[in-house]
Amino acid sequence: MRLKTFQAGDVAGKKVLVRVDFNVPLTPDGKVSDATRIKAHVPLIGELSKAGAKVGLCSHLGRPKGQVNPKYSLKPVAEELESTIGKKIVFVSDCVGAAVSSAIEALAPGGVAVLENLRFYAEEEKNDAAFAKKLAAPFEVFIMDAFSAAHRAHASTRAVVDCLPSFAGPLLIREIDVLSETRDNPKHPFVLILGGAKVSDKIDVIENLMSKADAIIIGGGMSFTFLKSQGYEIGHSLCEAEKLDFARAMSEKAKKKNVSILLPVDVVVASEVSAEAASKTVAVNAIPSDLMGLDIGPATRKLFSEALESAKTVLWNGPMGVFEMTPFANGTRAIAEQLAKITKNGAATVVGGGDSAAAIAQFGLENEVSHVSTGGGASLEFFEGKTLPGVEPYII
Ligand code: 3PG
Repeated sequence: MRLKTFQAGDVAGKKVLVRVDFNVPLTPDGKVSDATRIKAHVPLIGELSKAGAKVGLCSHLGRPKGQVNPKYSLKPVAEELESTIGKKIVFVSDCVGAAVSSAIEALAPGGVAVLENLRFYAEEEKNDAAFAKKLAAPFEVFIMDAFSAAHRAHASTRAVVDCLPSFAGPLLIREIDVLSETRDNPKHPFVLILGGAKVSDKIDVIENLMSKADAIIIGGGMSFTFLKSQGYEIGHSLCEAEKLDFARAMSEKAKKKNVSILLPVDVVVASEVSAEAASKTVAVNAIPSDLMGLDIGPATRKLFSEALESAKTVLWNGPMGVFEMTPFANGTRAIAEQLAKITKNGAATVVGGGDSAAAIAQFGLENEVSHVSTGGGASLEFFEGKTLPGVEPYII
């Protein structure tokens, strides 16, 4: 998939509005706790500054639901960006109107401003054309670099395109390049690893990739719905009763298509989701009725690792257990380590964003795989086969 991008001449000396995704986690005292998404936009910011553009960065943060709420201010993000790139960043306490126009006018060529949270206006999420016009007014060019917000048809990701000459930014292009190669043209064997709490979040991904994958590994909370659909007693483990038929149907379909579905053979169980709760490993046919599965066990780690050994392409979306708690982190860590190992041997390994990105970063292995997507929901929708509304305008 090729996207329309800009040349230096399109931005040199111009006032450029950039949609970034600065939706980053903050500590309770309001400091940025993970700057990955901020760093991901630094190459574009540097390129525009070098071209003498006056740059306005716009983003959402959290879900303030159309209300001004200081808890969701982008000010701490502007400060973090300033220390990341080591140059003065102007913070503008609005994202539309006179305050923005005068701040952008006042920038020196190459100067950068961060605008306040777009979602302080309800019109943003409504993809409101008049709001997009206001957002665009102080600028001459628009660049969409926020892959992780590209599944949203909002004023700053979609309607704004009708107001200014618009281009895809380098982060968006890299994400689409890597993810489309994985989705549309994987080298075989192609193994899909799915985890996380819910089957319902992954249904469309399974449906879309079933015909391409050679094997699908299923771990995490969602594996219990599959186990239950095969007649196992799963105690208090997560189960989506209304998805049992889907799980059964998928297992049948996989069999017909010669796709192996790998489920846990043993799990780590405890009475509650707590790092302090006593835990033990049991086979999946011996899950006590009063306990719940919170991680895959050692035999499953071995089974899944072996299935990944000869893979040429791997897509991983969703943790194998409650990796945030040490007693339940081993399964997710084993997957991360195996991906790092096979990447060294030449496999293309792609980690969908969200929880799996947080997990691989927790184990310090984020630079040992081929690609960690900045997009959670966006990468999921992309792998479901959808054309993302924030990408569609740039497809050539
Ligand atoms: C994300 O974190 O996935 C993106 O920033 C989109 O955020 P949203 O789900 O609040 O639209």
